Amino acid sequence: MAPEIPELKDYSPRSLDTFFNAILEQFDRDAATADSVEQLRVRWIGRKQGLLARVSDVLKGAPVDVRPEVGKRFNALKSAIEPRCDPGQATTNPLDDAIDITLPGTRRALGAEHPLIRTMNEIIAVFAAMGYSVGVGPEVETDYYNFESLNFPPGHPARDTQDTLVIVQQERKPLRDRLLMRTHTSPVQIHTMEEQPPPLRIVIPGKVHRNDAADATHSPIFHQVEGLCVDTNITFSDLKGTLDHAMKAFFGSNVKTRFFPSFFPFTEPSADVQISCIFCGGRGCRKCKQSGWIELLGCGMVDPAVFDFVVRRQPAYDSKKISGFAFGMGVERIAMMKYGIGDIGQFYSGDMRFLESFR
Ligand code: PHE
Repeated sequence: MAPEIPELKDYSPRSLDTFFNAILEQFDRDAATADSVEQLRVRWIGRKQGLLARVSDVLKGAPVDVRPEVGKRFNALKSAIEPRCDPGQATTNPLDDAIDITLPGTRRALGAEHPLIRTMNEIIAVFAAMGYSVGVGPEVETDYYNFESLNFPPGHPARDTQDTLVIVQQERKPLRDRLLMRTHTSPVQIHTMEEQPPPLRIVIPGKVHRNDAADATHSPIFHQVEGLCVDTNITFSDLKGTLDHAMKAFFGSNVKTRFFPSFFPFTEPSADVQISCIFCGGRGCRKCKQSGWIELLGCGMVDPAVFDFVVRRQPAYDSKKISGFAFGMGVERIAMMKYGIGDIGQFYSGDMRFLESFR
């Protein structure tokens, strides 16, 4: 719509406001749609046909007493409009800043969830759907939480199964207070129970550290998801049912599970859980070394000795009244299987080509 001179009813301040605002509004609209600055200039400040010249003509009829006021407003309007009609004033003229929409835009690289975080979140989601909450704990632990309260007595050979990275200069402290990098997420079982009475259902994702040499399947830093369920009358069949359901929910409903006797100091009885090979369906292949089964996690019924450590801080963990189960799994192993990753080092290399394949 071509700009027009609005109606001026009288010379009261209100009506002058309305008049000048209407003109400025029209200019703004025109500036946003005009084909060029030159077109805008001719239309607004052209000597003969320019709208401002015509506005000035209209205002000539103003009574003498309002002329100074009218003149001030007209000058303000002029200085608002003129620079924006000048092709030389590039920075103040929006048309000269106009974007060339034919150029390719700046593309911001889209991030992606790291495959380990993604796998942890997927495992957590399976348990969250069964009413589990999520907890975390410290990576630097005391000997007490990492070992002693989990029923690894000082000097016990079971400690040797978890080659430990210890913090320096702890020798003056009593053994139980010495700091180390946690070798598993199980110490968070103890922290959680000390903080909240049963019933308890919790999964704990986290980073763990062991003094292991790195190779294609080992890394001194890796991740686990721990689980703990404590209530009255929790039995081994609850453990079996929960893990069987979780494996089916995670890997697909065709997957079968089987439980083998095992040993952990903090569970009794303990078991290793195997699932039917997700690559060959159990017929036997290279991935499962022709056995048809893949070992996936450790679990067991919480040893009453563990409750006896907790009961010092939380009397409700009376091993005569409650029972529970716990499980722990390695996230890297599961992610490597699920995504067909051959070298554990790829998770930590920061190689964009690897990470981008998970977008
Ligand atoms: N913490 C054990 C490990 O790291 C795994 C585990 C957790 C076993 C819970 C039983 C119960 O090997």
